[in-house]
Order: sequence, then structure tokens, then C-alpha cells
Amino acid sequence: MEKIIIFDTTLRDGEQAPGASLTSEQKLKVAYQLERLGVDFIEAGFPIASPDDFAAVSMIAQNIKQTGICALARCLKKDIESAYNSLKKAKMPRIHIFLATSKIHLQYKFKKAEDEILDLVKRSTRMAKKKCRDVEFSPEDATRSDRDFLFKVVEAAIKEGATTINIPDTVGYTYPQEVYSLIKDIINSVPNINKAVLSTHCHDDLGLASANSLAAVMAGARQVHCTINGIGERAGNASLEEVVMAIKVRRDAFKGLKTEVNTKEIYKTSQLVKTLTGFVVPPNKAIVGDNAFRHESGIHQDAMIKKRTTYEIMNPKDVGIGKSQLVLGKHSGRHALLKRLKDLGFKLESGNVEDVFSRFKELADKKKEIFDEDVISLVEEQTRDKKKAFELISIRGVTGTDVVPETSVKIKHKAKVLMSSSNGDGPVDACYKAIDKLTRLKPRLLSYKLDAITKGKDAQGMVRIEILIRGKTVSGRGASTDILEASAKAYIDALNKIY
Ligand code: KIV
Ligand code: ZN
Repeated sequence: MEKIIIFDTTLRDGEQAPGASLTSEQKLKVAYQLERLGVDFIEAGFPIASPDDFAAVSMIAQNIKQTGICALARCLKKDIESAYNSLKKAKMPRIHIFLATSKIHLQYKFKKAEDEILDLVKRSTRMAKKKCRDVEFSPEDATRSDRDFLFKVVEAAIKEGATTINIPDTVGYTYPQEVYSLIKDIINSVPNINKAVLSTHCHDDLGLASANSLAAVMAGARQVHCTINGIGERAGNASLEEVVMAIKVRRDAFKGLKTEVNTKEIYKTSQLVKTLTGFVVPPNKAIVGDNAFRHESGIHQDAMIKKRTTYEIMNPKDVGIGKSQLVLGKHSGRHALLKRLKDLGFKLESGNVEDVFSRFKELADKKKEIFDEDVISLVEEQTRDKKKAFELISIRGVTGTDVVPETSVKIKHKAKVLMSSSNGDGPVDACYKAIDKLTRLKPRLLSYKLDAITKGKDAQGMVRIEILIRGKTVSGRGASTDILEASAKAYIDALNKIY
């Protein structure tokens, strides 16, 4: 198997993203995790950019011993010296120098002619090579550069000692077929190309960074620059998890190729980068998004129960996520609910399952996601309701700052529907008074407690009460997304106990 070198630039290009900056200590934490992840190189920073960057690269170089450490430099003496100095303690140091080669950069950024650029590339590569055996050169904006000039620059850099040639799609402009033919052209046109490893560095401005990196690999690139969660300048870089998992999952297409990344560490690394940078990962992000291994649709859930691979192309365990999840929501069907009931240890008779299922559907219309606690509470309610003397049918409350609170309640008692309404100090007080009229029981409310069962704005409220009736203290509870309804259920639950 031929190895694809994974060059992680989360701490350099990733950290360059506006708002992503990290302290040296945080960078070191990420570097340790990248080492556990098994990347081949960590681009630790751009030491000339700031004393902080220099300190972070030095600290990482001193502490990380299993992974190559790279520092970025422009084709300037002071940059190369700073990169070299920051890497002094590294076990496997690499200096990465870059210079733009596209016409637009030459004309507007540098105001330099091609010959001057070529000369600068030669001198800088030579200088870097004198300081470090391992030198990577990047012709910035390569994908928008004139091909013949690009080939000349690449050849010159290799001649001066560059051991890796990285082809950046700096502005995320290319597309897979184009990058494929560019890499092929470089291989076929640069005479000394076999003396260097060809690499790719793709940005995601058109959402093609990972696809472009993989096309480059298919054409012969053997190193990929990428970042965790795809963070980086503007729309970001090729995301490490996507590139690595594509090579692993589609080994049929990437025949004979592998990475040495320990994919089981992917999720943990993603979470760490998310937490430290504060850059949220969209729920639908490939591999590491919250929904990457979650299924809500009834059809998908049913098939997943029968065979996981009907709707999953990789095992969540392979990326360090515990297991796939069948999310219970309004699109879920009986099979998923039954499975969850079984997982939670409930054994219900079929009639009871139907009852719980219809309660579940009712709740799912009010609430985005049904959690285990919700399911437990549905089963408990169903069990209690079966033996009840009073059953809540409906409730309606009027309240506000300028009205007297009033609540109407409809309950079923011995096959009869009873209805009443009452005013009160608040809608719950009015509700309890209305129920008292209907049941003709006159309990005293001793305590009332309301908690959210689960998280989220649409969480169910759980009301727990205690009433004193006929000299006895009786407790009751009720849950609903509507707290007035939960209050009524709790009261009726207690009354049923005493009745
Ligand atoms: O996007 C880019 O061109 C870069 C270079 C420094 C490699 O980040
Ligand atoms: Zn970049």
C-alpha cells in the first residue's frame, strides 16, 4: 500500500480564519491530539507573523516527537530564519516556503516580473535547504498560474532542494477534473518531479476542497494539506476527516492507497478544535456533524434496524462516534419506537404499544426530538392512565397581565365527559379549582414543582405536586410541552390515587 501523507494545517491555515485564534497552550493541546490522530505533519504556525506564533511553534516543536513539525515562511530571509529558529527543538522539522506565481499576484501584489519571482524561489529554497533538510515549496495561487511558468518554478525549487512541492488552490477556484489534469501535467512536464513528493492544498470557496484534493491524489499527489472540521481562510480548507475517510471508505476507488490516520480519534479531535476555536460544526457536516450518523425518517429507521449499511456507508465507531442513532421525532415510525422501548427495557403488550405510539405521535408534533426521558414518561403516563378514575380530555387557559386568569377543563369520569371552568390567582390555580368542581374532592395543595424533563426550548415540563386529602398526603405528576396541561395531569394523577 502506498501512503498518502496527511499534512495538517489546522494550527496555521485553520487558525488564520477570522475569529479562530488560539493561545500557545491551546495550540499545544490540539497538537497533542493531532499526534494521537496520527497525522504525518503538523503545520504549527507562521513564526514571523507574531511573537505568539513563534512561541507556539517552538513549544509544539519541543513537545511533539512522533509527528513532523512544519513552520511557514515567505521567500524572505527573515521569515526563513524565524521558521528555522522556531523549529530548532523539533525532531522532524520542515520549513514550508511559499511565493505566488499567478499573473494577478505578480502584477498587483508584488509588481514583479516572472524572472524576478523565479530568482527569488531559487534563492529562498537554497537558503531554507541550508538550514533544514526537509523543505516544502508552494507556488501560491498555482491553479490560476500560467502552466509553463509554474512548471519552471517547480523544477527550479526541486533543483534547489525542495523535497515536497505543494500545489495550492489558494482561492478555491479549481474543480476536480481540472486539478486532476494539472497534477498529471506537472508529473509529465517537470523533468525532476520524481525527486519530490507532490502535494495539494485546496480551499473550499466553491465547496470543492475535499473533492479537488482527492482528484489530485487520483492523479498522483501523495500528500494532502487539510484541516480539522475544514477550518481555514474564508470558506476553509479541505477537511481532514472527509479526505481520510473517503480514502478509507472508497478503497476500491483509491486502490493501493492508505493514510496512517487513526480514524477512531477523528471525532475527539473535531470536538476539541470546535471547543477551542469556538467554530461550531454544522449538524449536517460530513463525518463529524451531529447528524452524520443520526436517522429520523421512519423508512430509514426501519431499514437501519434490519441492516445498518442500508443507510450508512461507514461505521460511526470508525470515526470515534459511539453508535448510529435513530432519532425519535415526527418522522419516526413504530419500528423505531419499539426498538427504543426495547432498548429502555420496556416490554409492552401490543395494545399498550399502540397507545404509547399514538401518545408519542401527539408529542412529536409538539416537540422536535423525543428523548429517552420523554419515552419513559410516555410509558409511565400510559400505565397510570389505564387505571384512572379521571382522565384529562382537554384544557384551555386564559391569562395575561390585564385579565383575571380563567381555565376550562374537560375530563372523563366513568364514561361521562364533564366540563367546568373557574377563575383563580393564576391559570394553574384556576385549573385546580375547575377540577375540584368536577371531582367534588377538595384537596389542599401542599407543594408544586416544575422541571424541564429534557433540554431545549421545546422540552417537556414535568410537574410534581403533593396534595393533602382525607388526612393523607398524596403525590402526583404529569408531563407535557404545555405546563398548564402538565399541571392538570399532575393534579388528576394525585386524585386518581386517592379515588
Ligand atoms: O492557500 C495557500 O496558498 C496557502 C499557502 C501558504 C500554501 O495557504
Ligand atoms: Zn491556504
